[in-house]
Formats: sequence, C-alpha cells, structure tokens
Amino acid sequence: MARKFFVGGNWKCNGTTDEVKKIVTILNEAEVPSEDVVEVVVSPPFVFLTLVKSLLRSDFHVAAQNCWVRKGGAFTGEISAEMLVNLGIPWVIIGHSERRALLNESNEFVGDKVAYALSRGLKVIACIGETLEQRESGLTMAVVAAQTKAITEKVTNWENVVLAYEPVWAIGTGKVATPAQAQEVHCELRKWLHDNVGAEVAASTRIIYGGSVNGANCKELAAQPDVDGFLVGGASLKPEFIDIIKAAT
Ligand code: G3H
Repeated sequence: MARKFFVGGNWKCNGTTDEVKKIVTILNEAEVPSEDVVEVVVSPPFVFLTLVKSLLRSDFHVAAQNCWVRKGGAFTGEISAEMLVNLGIPWVIIGHSERRALLNESNEFVGDKVAYALSRGLKVIACIGETLEQRESGLTMAVVAAQTKAITEKVTNWENVVLAYEPVWAIGTGKVATPAQAQEVHCELRKWLHDNVGAEVAASTRIIYGGSVNGANCKELAAQPDVDGFLVGGASLKPEFIDIIKAAT
C-alpha cells in the first residue's frame, strides 16, 4: 500500500500571537505539492490551536502537542482528548522525547495515551527514539522496539497512527542522523511491525524521521525507502519548512 508522505511541524513551546500569525501567513502563501502527495500537519502550543486552525489553509491540518491519558476531570493543567475533538483538532503528538525525559512519561503511559486519544477519534503522531548513550551501547533497536511494543499492547487499529522515529541525540542539536542511519532504523522498525503486529500494518504505517531536519538535508533523507516524512522542530518555525514539505516530490 502506498504511504502518503507526511510532514509535521512541531512548534514546541514557542511563539507569540504575532509570530504565529506570521508563520501561518508564510504557510498559506506557499506553493507546495497537493494534499494527494503530502499531508502537512502543524502543531502549535495549546493556546494557539484555535487561532492557527482558524487562519490556516484548508489543505494543512493542526495537531496538539500532547493530551491527557484519559477522560478529563480533576487534572489541573491537563488538556483532554475530548477537548481537542470538541475544538476540531484532528491530530495529537504523543510521547515526544522531551516529555518522556523531562516529565518522566513511561513507555506504558505513552501507550495508554496513544490508545485513549485514538479511542476518542484523534489521529496520533507517536514518538519513539533512543538517547546517544543507548545508541553507543548498541541498544537502539531494543529501545525503539520496547517503546513501540508498549503502543502495540494497547492499540489494535494502526490506521490513524504515524510513528515518528526521533533519535534524542539528533533533536535540536544540528546532528541529523545520516540517511543510512535513519533508513536502517526505519527498516528495522517496519520489520518489527511486520513480525509483531502484521504485514498490512507494517506496509501501511508511515514511519517519519525527526531530529535536526532542515531544508538542506531533507531531500536525501526523504529519498530513503522507509522514510515516509518528517517531524520537524526548529526548522518548522522558519520559511525553510516549505522546502521540507517539497521534499515529498
Ligand atoms: O518534534 C520534533 C523534533 O523534536 C525535532 O526537533 O527539528 O528541532 O531537531 P528539531
């Protein structure tokens, strides 16, 4: 099954109203391949979700950067999946390494969150990836397999899941994985999905790469057979995000 190229822009905890409006204007004026060729999703901070949704071109979509693990209630500071659905936000990023590391989100917690968000009708960008220490110890596949397993244990329908492989050592560091490094892990992950979930899920699930992707390195990464797109941090706040979207063709 053909996997449509996917480009996500994770704005993280950045932006003022004016800055957000400027980014949206750049996106709205850009000439990019059609929705049939590339799926574009931008993820502003919670407080700007509705503003971005109201201003953004209709062929691009919006994602939240997180949501609570179950139905809302007495969970101060959290945002529920139901609220995102109520606002018409179709996507959510779950399990980003910054949350795993800084907020101690475990594999199991991430798996529960992915399952709950899917059950409410959200589409999920589920993030996995190893630290430098884990890579240097030869643990890359063991780590990403364990992270993925925690999701597979809770999720049966993978139709609305995009798996984002983001090596922690490449995030925000300028040290992008080489195309060969990215391809190796994506290929192994697809094989893992094949062996542990099924051939159809392995063939159809998009595995995107994140970590210091920019306008200069995106083409070569995109040419790898198992790299189905990107989750972009820093460069998604800049005009070069358009070049990254164009890497789909
Ligand atoms: O979610 C995006 C990743 O954390 C990548 O961030 O492109 O700034 O390295 P980066």
